[in-house]
Amino acid sequence: MNILVTGGTGYIGSHVTVELLNQGHEVTIVDNLINSKVTVLDSIEKLTGKKPTFFQVDLLNLEALDQVFSGGNFDLVMHFAALKSVSESTKKPLLYYENNIAGTLNLFKCMQKYNVAKFIFSSSATVYGDVEGGECVETLPTGRGITNPYGKTKYMMEEIMKDLATAWPEFSCIALRYFNPVGNHPSGLIGEDPNGIPNNLMPYVMKVARGELPVLSVYGDDYDTPDGTCLRDYIHVVDLAKGHLAAMRGFEPGFKTYNLGTGKPTSVLEIVAAFNAASGKELPYQIAPRRAGDLPVLFANPSLAEKELGWHAELTIEDAMRDTLKFINQPQNIS
Ligand code: NAD
Ligand code: WQD
Repeated sequence: MNILVTGGTGYIGSHVTVELLNQGHEVTIVDNLINSKVTVLDSIEKLTGKKPTFFQVDLLNLEALDQVFSGGNFDLVMHFAALKSVSESTKKPLLYYENNIAGTLNLFKCMQKYNVAKFIFSSSATVYGDVEGGECVETLPTGRGITNPYGKTKYMMEEIMKDLATAWPEFSCIALRYFNPVGNHPSGLIGEDPNGIPNNLMPYVMKVARGELPVLSVYGDDYDTPDGTCLRDYIHVVDLAKGHLAAMRGFEPGFKTYNLGTGKPTSVLEIVAAFNAASGKELPYQIAPRRAGDLPVLFANPSLAEKELGWHAELTIEDAMRDTLKFINQPQNIS
C-alpha cells in the first residue's frame, strides 16, 4: 500500500513507519517538525534500508497539503500529527483546537477531494474521561469528565469522524485509542526525546536517569491502589506500532474504534522499580502531592482488538525499560 503518514517523524509515527517499511509498504511523511527532528529519517533508513518520502508541511497549510495529495496517489492515511501536551493545552486551548482539529479537517478535505477513503487515527484513552473502576471498553460512553483541551480535541475529532462516516459512504475510519506508550525500538535509534521539562512519566524518568533533572516526583502515594500510586496501562511502542498494521486488516466503511493497550495495570512505583532493575541503579524519587486531573486507575480492555484484528501486546514493561536504556545510552541521543 501507498500510505501517507502525518506526524511520521514523531515518537509513535516513526515507529509505525519502520514497521510499514519493513512490511514492504510505501510511506510518505508529512510533518512540520514542531516536535521532531528531520534526522529521524536517517535512523528510519538505517533500520529499514529505505527512506520515506518527506514533506515538511504544516497541516494547517491546506494549499501545501493539497499539493502532497495531488502527487501522492495514496491508498490510506495514518494520522499522528497533533500537539499532545496536556498541561500546555490548558494554557493555550486555541492553539490545540486549531492545530489538532483544523489540521485534521484540512486532511479530510484533501482525502475527499482525492478520494482517499481509508483512515487510521491516533486517538487516546483520554476520550473515556472518568471511568468507574478504570477499565475501558470500547462500548463505554466517551466525552464525559475530560479535564483538558488536548483530551477534548481527541473526543471531538472522533465525533467529527462519525459524522463524516455518515455523510461519506466509502469512508473507512479506525480510531485507535492508545493507552500509555513507553519504550522505543530495541536498536535505541529512534525514541521519545522531548525538549524541556516533560509531563509524561517515562520521559521524566529518562531525564532524571541522565542527570538532566535531579529527582522524579511521584504524584501521590495515597490513592486507593495496592502501593498508593496511580495505575496505568503502559504499552511498548513497538507493540502499539504493530497494532496499526493489524488495524489495516479491519477496514470497512464506517467508524470503528479499538483500544490498544495491554490490559495490565502497572503503578508508578512499579515503573520505577522496573527501571532500577534494568539499569542496576536507584533512580532518585520523592513523593509529591497528587497531580490535578489524574485518575487513580486507567487501563484497557484489549479484547476487541484481539478478536477482530488478531492483535495483542506481546512485550513487557521489562522489555520497555531495557529498550529505553538502550535509547538513553546511544551516543547520538546524549545531550
Ligand atoms: P509526537 O509529538 O512525537 O509526534 C507528533 C508529530 O506531529 C510531531 O513530529 C510533530 O512535529 C507533528 N505535528 C504536530 N502538529 C503538526 C501540524 N500541524 N502539521 C504537521 N505536523 C505536525 O507525539 P506522539 O507521542 O508520537 O503522538 C502521536 C499521536 O498519538 C498524537 O496524535 C497524539 O495525540 C497521540 N497519542 C499519543 C500518546 C502518547 O502518550 N504519546 C497517547 C495517546 C495518543
Ligand atoms: C502516568 C502516571 C502520573 C509524571 C497522559 C495523557 C493521556 C495520554 C498519555 C495522549 C500518572 C504519574 C507522571 C511524573 C508521576 N496522552 N507521573 N510523575 O497522565 O496517564 O496520560 O499521557 O493522549 O491523554 O493524559 O500519563 O505519563 O503523564 O502519567 O508520578 O513526573 O505517572 O501521576 O499516574 P497519563 P503520564
